[in-house]
Parts: sequence; C-alpha cells; structure tokens
Amino acid sequence: MSINVIVGGQWGDEGKGKIVDLLSKEASVVARYQGGSNAGHTVYHNDKKIVLHQIPTGILRQNSTCILGKGMVVDPDGIVEEIECLNNNKIDYSNRIIIDYYAHIVTPLHKLIDQINEEKSGAKIGTTCKGIGPTYQDKYQRIGIRAIDLLDLSLLKDKLEKRIKIALDRNEISSDDLLNVNLTDYYNSCTIINSFIQDSFPILFNKNVGNILIEGAQGTLLDIDHGTFPYVTSSNCSSGGISTGLGIPGNKLDNIIGIFKAYVTRVGGGPFPTELFDDNGKKLQSIGKELGATTGRVRRCGWFDIVAAKYSASINGLTGIALTKLDILDNFETIYVCTHYEFRNKKITELSSVLNYLDEVIPVYKQFKGWNCSIEEASSFDDLPKEAKVYIEFLSVKIGVPIEIISIGPKRHQILNLQ
Ligand code: GDP
Ligand code: IMO
Ligand code: MG
Repeated sequence: MSINVIVGGQWGDEGKGKIVDLLSKEASVVARYQGGSNAGHTVYHNDKKIVLHQIPTGILRQNSTCILGKGMVVDPDGIVEEIECLNNNKIDYSNRIIIDYYAHIVTPLHKLIDQINEEKSGAKIGTTCKGIGPTYQDKYQRIGIRAIDLLDLSLLKDKLEKRIKIALDRNEISSDDLLNVNLTDYYNSCTIINSFIQDSFPILFNKNVGNILIEGAQGTLLDIDHGTFPYVTSSNCSSGGISTGLGIPGNKLDNIIGIFKAYVTRVGGGPFPTELFDDNGKKLQSIGKELGATTGRVRRCGWFDIVAAKYSASINGLTGIALTKLDILDNFETIYVCTHYEFRNKKITELSSVLNYLDEVIPVYKQFKGWNCSIEEASSFDDLPKEAKVYIEFLSVKIGVPIEIISIGPKRHQILNLQ
C-alpha cells in the first residue's frame, strides 16, 4: 500500500488532471483534500475532453473510490452537474463517490457573496465566483454548514435561513440580491447528493485499503499561507493541507509529485514576475490553448520561474516532478528560464524573501535554444531532441528534484515515464 500525492507547483492549471488520471490506474482510492468547484481538471477519456471540478479525477477509472475530503468546500449544484456529465459519458460511479460528513457546503448565498465582494473590491482578486472564500470564512467563523447537515433537510433549511438573515443584517447582501437565488433547485441538489455523504475515516485508515492517490487542486502559489496573498485561494493547496483536509499525517505520504508546466500561467489577479506581454506571451497562450477550464478566462502566460519552483519544491516536500505541456514549446527559436530575480539592486534566489514585493522584482533569464520540431509522438526520453533534454535537465538540477514524468500532449498516451 502506498500513499502518493499530486500537487500543483505553480498557480494552478498545471495539468494535474491528466497526471492524476495516469496514476489513478494503480489506486483504489483517489481523494481530494481542499478547494471546491474553483478547480477545473481536464482529462481525455476515450478521446473525449472531460472537465471535473469537485469529483476526483480517479472517477474515470473503474478501480477507485473517490473521496471529497473534509477540507473541501462542496457545492451540491455543481456535484449534480458533474454527475450528469458522468452519466452522459457512461461512466459508472455507483458506490464510488464519498463526500465526507464534515466537508463544508457551498450554498447559493456563498456564491452571491463571492460575486458581490468581487464587484465591490478595489483590489480584484479575480476569484472564480464559486463561493469558495465565503464558505471557508463561515467554516473558520464556526457558522458553516456541513455535508452531514444535508442528511436532515429541515435542519439544513433552518441553518441556511439563519445564515441568510445574518447576511442581510451584516449588509453582505441586499434583499433585492436574494431575488436571483434559487433555493428550490438547491435543496433538490442537496437531496440528490445525500447518498454520497459518509464518514471517510474508515476507508482512509483501513490498513487493507490499497493505494491511495491524493489529488491537489489549485497550486502552491495560490495557497492561503504560502502563496501570493491576498491573490490566493482560501485553502492550503500545498501538501500541508493534506494533514488537515484528509487527516492523513505527513509522515504517511510516500511520494509527493509536483506538477509544473514547462512555462507558467496564472488566471486572475496578482503578481507574476515572468509574465510576458509580448508576442511570445501571446504565442504561449494560443498554442497552449490557455483558457480557464472553470471560467473560460484567458490565462496570463510567462516563462518558467526557477525561483518560484524551488520554493514550491520546499513547501511541498516534493519527491518528484511531472513536467507538462513541453510540446507547447516546440516552435520557439529561443526559450527563456528565470534563474533569479533582481530586487532593489540585490540578487534574489529565494522567493520567500520577496513574496510581498513580487510586483517589483525583475526576472533575470538564461536563454535556451529551442528544438523547433514536434515532440508529440516521442515514446521515450531518448526520443526527445537534444535541446529539449538540455532544457529538462537544467530545470531538474536547478529545482533539485528529479523530473519523473513528462507530458507531451493532452491525450492519455502522450506521456514519458522517466523512472
Ligand atoms: P489542472 O487544473 O492542473 O488539472 O489543469 P487544467 O485541466 O485546468 O489545464 C491543463 C490543460 O492542458 C488541459 O486543457 C489539458 O488537456 C492540457 N494538457 C495537459 N497536459 C498537456 C500536455 O502535455 N500538452 C498539451 N498540449 N496539453 C496538455
Ligand atoms: P485548478 O485546480 C487556476 C484562482 C482564481 C483566483 C484565485 C482565487 O484547476 O488548478 P477562488 O475562486 O479560489 O476564491 O479564486 O485563485 N484559482 C485558480 N487558478 N486554477 C485553479 O484550479 C484555480 N482555482 C482558483 O482565478 O485568482
Ligand atoms: Mg484547472
């Protein structure tokens, strides 16, 4: 039995879905520990693109039970939509989805507050408006609604009505705003997902459970404690979140695989030292089809950032790296990698010292010759052009973590295993 972890190494959308899909072949449990429907994890199943937001990606393989852990914030309306998607794609999920009793629940009120906060806020975080921040806020204020409350519909209604009253008293919303809230559909969704709500402890802590794969959402630089606050999400997306979000202590984790794109993207507001505003940025965006899987927003693009990646490796305790979307660099004459920053005339190699001043740092780049050919059909590391190998080896050495998997296209077979 092993416990393996997938975490986002950058600002999310690194291709976690594809790698979880690959590794879930060997897993009897796939579990998420944080976040909610702000995530959008893309997988090609029978050559059809499927995007999962809350249900772990392992659902596409029949061998695994999928757990939505207590550290998540679960949106019942969103789960019903995902179930519909599974039905449409003839994926059998019977007895395979567990929403932990103690996961907190997103309601239409939380989504509304999220939208209103975004509209009002001067420093736009650019949230997904999925109610993530307001739901975590209620959790920490100890007024949140939990999945176990859905088992008694009258109790749920009572709790939500009380919470709506608090929102009106606090001017979080106006009574006019409430006109757009459809609670009948919401309560229907709550009833539909009722049968998934259980205690996940007996499964996660059963010695004979088999291999567990833990699926992170978002990315380390969006972590509420370790990311680019306040331009972050409201959970601990880095591996530390696993101990609280699933209750699995750090010393039980066998392999922690960080997912990194071969360049960097970010969606939403906040600092991004290697962001490109030139033709290279546009080229990464268009070849990489960098549009948000959840909101459809254009993702900002930039070169790979070693300073940020090293930080991410430390925070997560990475044992290995999966490098994705290497194929997107196929047609660049020159590829750049940020090796360090300059900040107020000093050389900076550690992200933590400038985390609060990332807007001001100047990235310093090393240039690499591009390979200028398609690598999409490579079947081993040896098949890759010399220039691509140089690029990969440089990243691995500088980050100080072995690159174990390389993804060279969106499809399942477009993967190179280096182990
Ligand atoms: P996640 O949130 O980390 O799971 O990533 P997303 O699904 O939001 O975004 C990753 C996008 O890149 C998806 O559209 C994937 O299909 C696609 N993708 C993943 N790996 C590769 C790859 O190696 N090459 C290419 N071209 N696309 C990839
Ligand atoms: P996956 O799992 C990329 C970003 C939002 C916003 C910030 C806060 O697909 O990698 P939130 O709605 O969480 O309060 O928004 O976090 N964000 C993501 N960016 N990928 C994600 O998930 C994200 N989930 C949230 O764009 O900047
Ligand atoms: Mg995504």
